[in-house]
Amino acid sequence: MSDRLFIFDTTLRDGEQVPGCQLNTVEKIQVAKQLEALGVDVIEAGFPVSSPGDFNSVIEISKAVTWPTICALTRAVQKDIDVAAEALKFAKHKRIHTGIGTSDSHIKYKFNSTREEIIERAVAAVKYARRYVDDVEFYAEDAGRTENEYLARVVEAVIKAGATVVNIPDTTGYCLPAEYGEKIKYLIDHVDGIDKAIISTHCHNDLGMATANTISGVLNGARQVEVTINGIGERAGNTALEEVAMILRCHHSIDIDTNINTQKIYPTSRMVSSLMNMPVQPNKAIVGRNAFAHSSGIHQDGVLKNVQTYEIINPKDVGIDDNAIVLTARSGRAALKHRLHILGVEMGQEKLDKVYEDFLKLADKKKDITDDDILVLAGADRNVNHHIKLEYLQVTSGVGVRSVASLGLNISGEHFESAATGNGPVDAAIKAVKQIIKRQMTLKEFTIQAISKGSDDVGKVHMQVEYDGQMYYGFGANTDIIAASVEAYIDCINKFKK
Ligand code: KIV
Ligand code: ZN
Repeated sequence: MSDRLFIFDTTLRDGEQVPGCQLNTVEKIQVAKQLEALGVDVIEAGFPVSSPGDFNSVIEISKAVTWPTICALTRAVQKDIDVAAEALKFAKHKRIHTGIGTSDSHIKYKFNSTREEIIERAVAAVKYARRYVDDVEFYAEDAGRTENEYLARVVEAVIKAGATVVNIPDTTGYCLPAEYGEKIKYLIDHVDGIDKAIISTHCHNDLGMATANTISGVLNGARQVEVTINGIGERAGNTALEEVAMILRCHHSIDIDTNINTQKIYPTSRMVSSLMNMPVQPNKAIVGRNAFAHSSGIHQDGVLKNVQTYEIINPKDVGIDDNAIVLTARSGRAALKHRLHILGVEMGQEKLDKVYEDFLKLADKKKDITDDDILVLAGADRNVNHHIKLEYLQVTSGVGVRSVASLGLNISGEHFESAATGNGPVDAAIKAVKQIIKRQMTLKEFTIQAISKGSDDVGKVHMQVEYDGQMYYGFGANTDIIAASVEAYIDCINKFKK
């Protein structure tokens, strides 16, 4: 019988730490349910002590999800563990994930401590967490840069203290694949009692080696992998779930199975990307727009003769269905509901009616409605509680003339109007907004992304605005790219704390 690899998904914790990717509780539940359908074994639902929002999300996800283990992150601090245990009270299967930095730089600069004292703190945290739950995972933060001999002492001590899983994070994404694999093997060969715990990988992608390191860890004995959908995560991100799942599926020489239903990979990827407003790079392995697009003549010729010439994965195996019905203005509610269901989005009749209404408006402007369009429409009511709303916008622009924008804003029920000129239509429109919202704010980043192809497409705009020493992230989606830009700008302003 083949070995089983446990999939620990941290999209809602490490992934969600990405600035601008924060989800509200309802959205997190939606992702958690989709992860359950995908077949992940463990869902890291948050870091409960870090904010009331995270605490509440762990509670609600625990209620909503049935069979995966729900995990909550803590530092090796009693208060964190108390709060995590409280947040997990409704989980059917629960795990506390506690830990501390073990590399010399963490010990010296972060904790101003000693190696011996760190072992004591690690052991105390695991024992304390075991008072609440039977399943305790310990992470040795920056294990990637921790000397193997000392790491083995830490791992041995925490297993003795009751850790059921030991996580070996390459927190900075520094390790080479062979080096990371050797680290896992070293622990398996040198830690007394290692058979009482599962070793987990947790790799970051700073040097583009997260997936390679994870697989190297698995080949050397790790039996849990910590991953995120689309590889999202702080800085260059974490190991991508879809890459690990498909590597194991494609390489029959590796006799290790996961519980992942690979046909749910693509819809899950789209859902996470859409809810987090985080575009997937077109050439991203497995889920990128170009992942299965053969453009060179030689490749196209080969694929037409036999797909196996250049294709190692059948797109259908990851849930990409080329024959999927394209929705148009003539599609009914049932077709829309079915497509939403395939994309993992369930909604009540009232919301469906509203999305259908928006769908018809969009279908009037654009011939074919894509999955991305539908996901944008499904998430459109994220702005309903905004106190500043764009009422109308008119721009004139062209070659040899200065652009002019006039617009109306509704601020908490009051109507304001303004007009401005600029060196382009977006510049003019943003100046007009600034004349109404008189704050010292600076546009730091501005990305326009067409969702698929065609001049009638919906454009997505991501913006970062700095205000009062803080960075705010905004999003807008519209077939009119100037309107999408203004919506994204207003989305940032609506998030200002004062
Ligand atoms: O990268 C890391 O070290 C982590 C730990 C908190 C598990 O995310
Ligand atoms: Zn991490």
